[in-house]
Amino acid sequence: MSFRDDLHEASEWAASYLDKVATLPVAADVRPGHVRSTLPDAPPEQPEPFADVLRDLDDVILPAITHWNHPRFFAWFANTGSEPGILAELLIAALNVNCMTWLSSPAATELETTVLDWLAQLIGLPREWHGHIEDTASTATVAALAAARHERPGGVVYASEEANFSVEKAARLIGLEYRKVETDEQFRMRADFSLDDATAVVATVGTTATTSVDPVPELAARCADAGVWLHVDAAYAGSAAVCPELRWCLDGCDRADSVVVNPHKWLFTPMDCSTLWTRRPEALHAAFALVPDYLAATVDAIDLKDYGPALGRRFRALKLWTVLRMYGAEGLRALIREHVRLAQLFASWVEAEPRWEVAAAHPFSTVCFRHTQLDNHELARRATASGEVFLAATNLGGRSTIRLAIGNARTTEDDVRRTWEVLRECASAQ
Ligand SMILES: Cc1ncc(COP(=O)(O)O)c(C=O)c1O
Repeated sequence: MSFRDDLHEASEWAASYLDKVATLPVAADVRPGHVRSTLPDAPPEQPEPFADVLRDLDDVILPAITHWNHPRFFAWFANTGSEPGILAELLIAALNVNCMTWLSSPAATELETTVLDWLAQLIGLPREWHGHIEDTASTATVAALAAARHERPGGVVYASEEANFSVEKAARLIGLEYRKVETDEQFRMRADFSLDDATAVVATVGTTATTSVDPVPELAARCADAGVWLHVDAAYAGSAAVCPELRWCLDGCDRADSVVVNPHKWLFTPMDCSTLWTRRPEALHAAFALVPDYLAATVDAIDLKDYGPALGRRFRALKLWTVLRMYGAEGLRALIREHVRLAQLFASWVEAEPRWEVAAAHPFSTVCFRHTQLDNHELARRATASGEVFLAATNLGGRSTIRLAIGNARTTEDDVRRTWEVLRECASAQ
């Protein structure tokens, strides 16, 4: 078989997978060690044909996959391996460029700065900011805190008790003390804590549990007065700002020092792609720029390796470019609006049902809700065991709560309706 034949088989496999994914059990039902025990102990001595790889993909791997591309995957923050993103990933591997310096791939560097400018326009961030792509928000936050530490070493990183744990991890990695700030009754960070010993504040737009939005305008004003770096973690909800009616969620971000948004969460871009902007690129540069003898600095151009932890950098811009072009701003807005509509619809069903309640405000596509008399962790587990849906639970104010996080481009109203039926069936059986 030639490479072209194999390519044809791989694309057939991908297309048929997406055709049937909605019929597969969403979450894998396997025990730890199962996959390892069915794989050979050692790598093959002789080359194997691609057909054998595809066969094992079907027989061994697929049954143990939890299908993030399933339209009824509603756990954590659901996302989409969209068709434009899948096509681009293939081309990225074919090109295989390493976008570390401008010289190492001029097109990759300039496409990256261009798509970050495009996305800044789409979500209303200042166009003059520096923007680049990191693998994940975790890494983007490490980069932001490293820049903050360069400006003001030795202080404390403040974030709310609802901030994602990746923020604490980043502070630990950078060697800064981390302190949690209390939230108000709507799970938003209180803005009245002392900044005397602060190096940085991390505000969240769309917290992981409830998608609450911290008071960025107040925090930005206070941080500016105190000379403290404000990083905004808009990993999930920042994508909502492509819709003018949801752009309020980024209010005040133009006065922050850095902002991260994850297209691999709610902008239909396959893992991984996290976009980081800063109005103070010189601080990132001071934190990260090192010029070894073998990689001379480029004159009159930007070397993206100097703005984050990684030297080797994937050509992720090609993926984001393809997504932005093939959906167009209108296509992205239509999907985001549909997800928000479905979330509001689901919340209205919960509110109308006796013994069920909505547990938090739901401005985006995620609804926290609970059965008032049952163990909601158990309920989510049973619903997931049905194979029809994948739901995760958390604790909110000490009470178990289920989250319905809508984020897959293939999710329809029927999927959300079926999920509600499954939940009610499980509740009456419990
Ligand atoms: C609000 C928030 N910030 C950051 C992260 C971390 O994102 P990543 O997996 O890209 O590091 C998450 C993950 O879900 C999140 O919910």
